Amino acid sequence: MIKSRVGDITTDLIQAIGKVCEKHNITHDEYRKAIDFFSEAIDAGERSLLFDAFLEANIVASDPTKTTGTTAQVLGPFYLPNMPLLDNGQLARPNEAGERLTVSGSVLSTEGGIIQNAELDFWQADAEGRYSSFNEGVPQYNLRGKIKSKTDGSFLLQTVKPAQYTIPDQGPTGILLKAIGRHSWRPAHLHVIVRHEDYQTLTTQIYFRGDEYLSTDAVRAANDDLAFPLSKNEEGSCVAFNLILRE
Ligand SMILES: [Fe+2]
Repeated sequence: MIKSRVGDITTDLIQAIGKVCEKHNITHDEYRKAIDFFSEAIDAGERSLLFDAFLEANIVASDPTKTTGTTAQVLGPFYLPNMPLLDNGQLARPNEAGERLTVSGSVLSTEGGIIQNAELDFWQADAEGRYSSFNEGVPQYNLRGKIKSKTDGSFLLQTVKPAQYTIPDQGPTGILLKAIGRHSWRPAHLHVIVRHEDYQTLTTQIYFRGDEYLSTDAVRAANDDLAFPLSKNEEGSCVAFNLILRE
């Protein structure tokens, strides 16, 4: 019989679950309740939320193809594809509420070379922690859009500082978080996917140094390497960082 990677992993997974069952003397009734729990989470529309909150960070951390360059981060459940290219890097509307934030940096290769014409696909929560298309009262596609790195590899984005927010915590995912003693807060962050045809696509998040939830992120994604200092400018705050792509 030909052994497959899927077969090997499934065998190990079953053995690992078996050890947990033995350790905790899992009953058949508890097994049925666990199955019902997953069914309820999916029926409640929390399939992505549940797996992202508990498992996605492990997968990102274990991926051996991502050992150099900017640290990869979970995609999360709030991404929307096909957002427009922004005029002059203006991600926030002129009347968008919140503290103005200037985001700058360069897209670089792991050898330090500049990468021009990379596509940076940003999305973020607003100053109340809300995502367009997922929270009510937010204009359609608000705070979502793409920019390109310039000929010198640099990029510049004008936006507002995103707020910390809780992941949806009133359904099955929230119940399970509470059961293991975790809160549902995420540190403030910007999401970005960086694409260039000659490099591996990078999905990551940018945090702000000093955020109280950096070490206890509800989805265990936040990373000190990706937490950058905020400084003040005339309009509000600014943050600078480089995004390093692997070939
Ligand atoms: Fe987010």
